[in-house]
Amino acid sequence: MIPDKNYIPDQLEELQEAVVRLKSENLRLEKLAEQADAANKAKSDFLAMISHEIRTPMNGVIGLTELMLGMEQDSKQKKYTGLILTSARNLLTLINSLLDFSKIEADMMELDITEFNLRKLVEELMTLYNVATLRKDVQVFSEIDPDVPAFFIGDSYRIRQIFVNLLGNAIKFTDVGSVVLKVIYTQHSDDDIKLLRFEVRDSGPGIPPDKLDRLFKPFTQVDASSTRRYGGTGLGLSICQKLVELMKGEIGVNSEKGTGSTFWFALPLKPGAGKSYDSQPVLDKEVEIPVVDEEGGILPANQEGDIAVRVKPERPVGLMKEYWKEPDRTASTFKNGWYLTGDRAYVDEDGYFWFVGRSDDVILTSGYRIGPFEVESALIEHPAVAESAVVSSPDDTRGEVVKAFVILAPGFKGSDDLVTELKDYVKKVTAPYKYPRKIEFVEALPKTISGKIRRIELRNNEWGR
Ligand SMILES: Nc1ncnc2c1ncn2[C@@H]1O[C@H](COP(=O)(O)OP(=O)(O)OP(=O)(O)O)[C@@H](O)[C@H]1O
Ligand SMILES: [Mg+2]
Repeated sequence: MIPDKNYIPDQLEELQEAVVRLKSENLRLEKLAEQADAANKAKSDFLAMISHEIRTPMNGVIGLTELMLGMEQDSKQKKYTGLILTSARNLLTLINSLLDFSKIEADMMELDITEFNLRKLVEELMTLYNVATLRKDVQVFSEIDPDVPAFFIGDSYRIRQIFVNLLGNAIKFTDVGSVVLKVIYTQHSDDDIKLLRFEVRDSGPGIPPDKLDRLFKPFTQVDASSTRRYGGTGLGLSICQKLVELMKGEIGVNSEKGTGSTFWFALPLKPGAGKSYDSQPVLDKEVEIPVVDEEGGILPANQEGDIAVRVKPERPVGLMKEYWKEPDRTASTFKNGWYLTGDRAYVDEDGYFWFVGRSDDVILTSGYRIGPFEVESALIEHPAVAESAVVSSPDDTRGEVVKAFVILAPGFKGSDDLVTELKDYVKKVTAPYKYPRKIEFVEALPKTISGKIRRIELRNNEWGR
């Protein structure tokens, strides 16, 4: 077919019109995108600002509720105040998450780069989460590669925040088993920046593969039932991802349903100049920790002795730092190349340590060495005993004897009969020579701020020191 002469100019005209239309459409879309960006930024700015404004009064609510809990209240009032406190704390956590999220979205998050002690940070987290899992059948521990130095330069607050989110999740979703935090060097590059890889591995329910890539999106949770059971908003991981990106790192997860999950992140960090002397000890991987006798000989199974650690003389253990200033104490703590931890224990056939007590607390009576801890554990099993502290007390014939201070459980009254009953009870559940020859019922026991019984105070009172 021969084309019409007018056909081509017609088509050209149509095309030109289409181009003009498309151009104006593009312009309109660009404008819309700009507006959307501006709106998004305004929203994030607003959120960042408002979250901050809400945080201040929330802290007031929490502080005052805590004060109220310390006041005299009947049980119902106490229960309600407790509920207010829990809700207020949850709300504050949520607000903090929103604040962080919007701050990062609005490009307002700034890193605070300083030198910090990574080993100390990990240790603090372990202490924190070991308390948090006391009521759960979950063990939390850490493994740090021995060649990872203690000090790094980075934003420790934000790194901590990532750990808190990942450890928090791992513990939240794991009912039995373990949660391990690993720190590994993955690459020693030429310059002095090292790539550190952190892993949080749990033995929890795992995550189905089709859900893995969505987890780091805000407000995403694997299933609705977990939200009902565990709470949370699904912001934690998206904040982690943003923080890691801000620190020029990478974050990811490996998991299979039913086998647990490993969340990891890697950060390029520069080692700091600090030495690990001030921190907790950096022990060799193959450190020896036996139970030894007076002469430093390693004891066979089931024989009680001092827990000792072999230390390199040129590298004092952090725990010991203050002792160096007191030669007397140093002499008694370092014996025959061992550092004596001050704990008494025996090791059973399977290699488990059985704690007997602090060596200062051990009571020498009629030729036996008795650890207060064991007697206290026996006493506490008796229904009449709410709490007890066992110390040595002077005795004319035996030199010293075991004495127990007992706080009675509600509904029980101290009497001579009860004293006899408790003595018989301890004789039955431990060895006969371990029973407390003296028992005193008390209203309270002297304690440290962290709640540990101050046996030393009771013992000094007994001995008139
Ligand atoms: N260790 C884990 N094991 C199993 N599922 C996990 C684990 N960590 C995260 N998840 C899944 O990923 C979802 C998102 O986690 P994320 O931390 O973002 O939110 P969240 O913990 O639910 O709430 P938030 O952290 O805001 O309090 C969780 O709801 C859960 O379904
Ligand atoms: Mg979370």
